Amino acid sequence: MEQYRSQYLDILPLDEHVPLVVRRSITITPHIIKPMLTTQKITAEQLYQTLKNIKVGGSVCQYSLRKCAEFVPLINEINELKEEKNAVILVHSYISPEIIYGVGDYVGDSYALSKNALETHADVIVFAAVRFMGETAKILNPEKDVLIPGLLDGCSLADSINAQDVRRLRREFPHYTFVCYINTTAEVKAECDVCVTSANVYKIVENIPNKNIYFLPDKLMGQNLANEMKARGIHKNIRYFDGTCYVHEEYTDEQIFKIRMEYPQVKIVSHPECKPTICDQSDFVGSTTQMLQYMLETDSKEFLMLTECGLSSRLQAEFPDKKLVGTCTLCRYMKSNTLQDILRVLKNPTDNDRVYIDEDIRLKAAQCIQAMFHYTQA
Ligand code: 13P
Ligand code: SF4
Repeated sequence: MEQYRSQYLDILPLDEHVPLVVRRSITITPHIIKPMLTTQKITAEQLYQTLKNIKVGGSVCQYSLRKCAEFVPLINEINELKEEKNAVILVHSYISPEIIYGVGDYVGDSYALSKNALETHADVIVFAAVRFMGETAKILNPEKDVLIPGLLDGCSLADSINAQDVRRLRREFPHYTFVCYINTTAEVKAECDVCVTSANVYKIVENIPNKNIYFLPDKLMGQNLANEMKARGIHKNIRYFDGTCYVHEEYTDEQIFKIRMEYPQVKIVSHPECKPTICDQSDFVGSTTQMLQYMLETDSKEFLMLTECGLSSRLQAEFPDKKLVGTCTLCRYMKSNTLQDILRVLKNPTDNDRVYIDEDIRLKAAQCIQAMFHYTQA
């Protein structure tokens, strides 16, 4: 197995039973909360050493010493403010690397980050991701200030369905358990029975006693779910809504064919928001953190990651000995998070930056999320 090497970050040996701590409090394994350890200032050279191996996506995604020098004053100011305000910064793996490695306290997939949000002792949570993730943090922490720096409000899945749609479907399918993907608004979660993420969807649906499952809003994940249940010999009647993620639905069989021709040893790793034909041809399918873990635990040197480009950037920064092949697809919502806006929301948050959820809706949505924690631990 590889070891993460860095000039300035803590290095721990990798072990299957030990969480990989890659930077200060950052951990890639869900469930582990580390206290923030340092407010130590970083230099442009240190940031550059961490980001210099990122090659995916052409010049937009790459780092020079000069570019790092522009980020460093912002990073140091954010880290000071974070300490002053007892704030924690949660960062999804799709977010730009200067945010993950400069100011992030926890980085992970949506399940791990919701656990981090549940367990943090900070007074302020800055969620560098998309709105539904910030809403999940607020649902679990009504007393905390949850701030969303991302300027582009949305997610193609969360925007594809509203609470009225769910109420109509519930009338149409009264004997179904309504399972919603975490990529939904608080209002939609409030109308559903159990929330799931890409990390636990199969386990949870398998454990739900009802055979009749309505899965929403991702049609492709719904189809992958139905296929997986069949493969496990579990009988479920699965209906699904017709939303899709505009990033993941784009991957094609032709891309896979070409990559396999060019790199016969490549491991293809995909996210369950991809089409079933893509998942069928993949060596591994899982959440963004599970994709990372698969890569870590697999001896192969070449990988094609069929998900947003931020994950590949992260892998190149942390595991430069592995080769990431293929093109780069960006999520415009995730990539609308910047260091400038993180600093702005920490200094002077406006009502627009804060997450507010009506208390009735919050309580119902919290039940739906608590059901996820219950079934995940079952
Ligand atoms: P993960 O929970 O796997 O990180 O996925 C979130 C997401 O939005 C994928 O597009
Ligand atoms: Fe939403 Fe797709 Fe972006 Fe994930 S990648 S946040 S599902 S639009």
